[in-house]
Amino acid sequence: MADPVEVSVVKAIQENRLWQRHMEIAEIGATGRGGVNRQALTPEDGHARRLVLDWSSQRGFTASIDDIGNLFIRRAGTKPTAAPVVAGSHLDTQPTGGNFDGVFGVLAALEVLEAASDANVITTRPLELVVWTNEEGARFQPTTMGSAVFTGALALKTVLATQDSTGVTVEQALAETLKIAPVNEKREFCSPMAAYLEAHIEQGPILETTKNTIGVVTGIQGLRWFQVEVNGEEAHAGTTPRQNRRDALSAAVSMITKLQALMFDEADAVRFTVGRFEVAPNSPNTVPGRVLFTVDFRHPDQDVLSHLGNQIETVCRAEAKECDVSVVETMHSPPTEFDPIVRDLVRDAAKRQVQPYMDLISGATHDAKFMADHCPSGMIFVPCEGGISHNEAENASSADLAACTRILAEVMIQLANR
Ligand code: HGY
Ligand code: MN
Ligand code: MN
Repeated sequence: MADPVEVSVVKAIQENRLWQRHMEIAEIGATGRGGVNRQALTPEDGHARRLVLDWSSQRGFTASIDDIGNLFIRRAGTKPTAAPVVAGSHLDTQPTGGNFDGVFGVLAALEVLEAASDANVITTRPLELVVWTNEEGARFQPTTMGSAVFTGALALKTVLATQDSTGVTVEQALAETLKIAPVNEKREFCSPMAAYLEAHIEQGPILETTKNTIGVVTGIQGLRWFQVEVNGEEAHAGTTPRQNRRDALSAAVSMITKLQALMFDEADAVRFTVGRFEVAPNSPNTVPGRVLFTVDFRHPDQDVLSHLGNQIETVCRAEAKECDVSVVETMHSPPTEFDPIVRDLVRDAAKRQVQPYMDLISGATHDAKFMADHCPSGMIFVPCEGGISHNEAENASSADLAACTRILAEVMIQLANR
């Protein structure tokens, strides 16, 4: 039987307020095609942060920020020195992103803090909402940058010097963002937390096809990112014989063809993506002198991640022909298991609230991946329409979002009163 205090907060969750906030944030960076372009540390990211800060300060919640711009919103508990129970996600999106990836986890956490206030519940531990900087890794690589720096997996100095494709650094972009959404109080990296939870759309088809509302996320599959640069020689398209060419595009195409053959998996468990492909000088009548492409490779089994991932550079070198090639691994994130205690609390809450649920592993990575090394962590998934995400058509139902937020509320209040 759930504790009456937890029940009172669960009952205070307002589906309509949660949905309206999604619609309001969706206007910031709206593309006009139903989706959003709110990339990390752009003015749009700043304005979305500002909106969350305004909603929070209206309820008397306090804000703090760390040196990579991770934003923490606190609702006080009776024991201010106790490690907080934290929930959150990210506000930044893909260039053609949807209106739920990341932002749902932020707004679900805010909804729980508000519902606790509406229910006049004061927990022992503080409750916190966190907005992680640059989860998507679209503008600045790698992905989950803010949580990686917070937990010490990436060095602040290196990350601040990272540049986007126009040469703007994280440091410069962060300074501009903080002018739009300034926060005075400082938060230290690796600050103690009693637990971390992240509500998120599944971004895949499993929950919808199995007609489950709640995903009890057991862990996150492993991921390896590579940047491949091929350098040949620019030449005249009309005068240069094939045997004199050092054609970077021709070599890159051979590399990708061979990599796709290597990664082909009958069981369809391997996830191999070349998402970025840049050609220079990108002129119809100049032989390409330079190509840069990215590799995003994922699998739930570390042995496969190692065995296949370790062949990527060899394949690229073998197909380089007369060109030079450099292969740099920009991220190697092993498969992550979430804390069984948190996982069981999520499952028990789904049972108590009579929501159809199932265990599943996350195909996408999330900030919870790094948080799992910092404190007991877990995730709660909801279905998204057709499993579509990283796409402007991304959609989720208001009822499902509210159902997931009620599970988040029960688990957060439980943990905050321990
Ligand atoms: O790439 C990912 O898995 C995450 O959605 N950024
Ligand atoms: Mn996300
Ligand atoms: Mn994403």
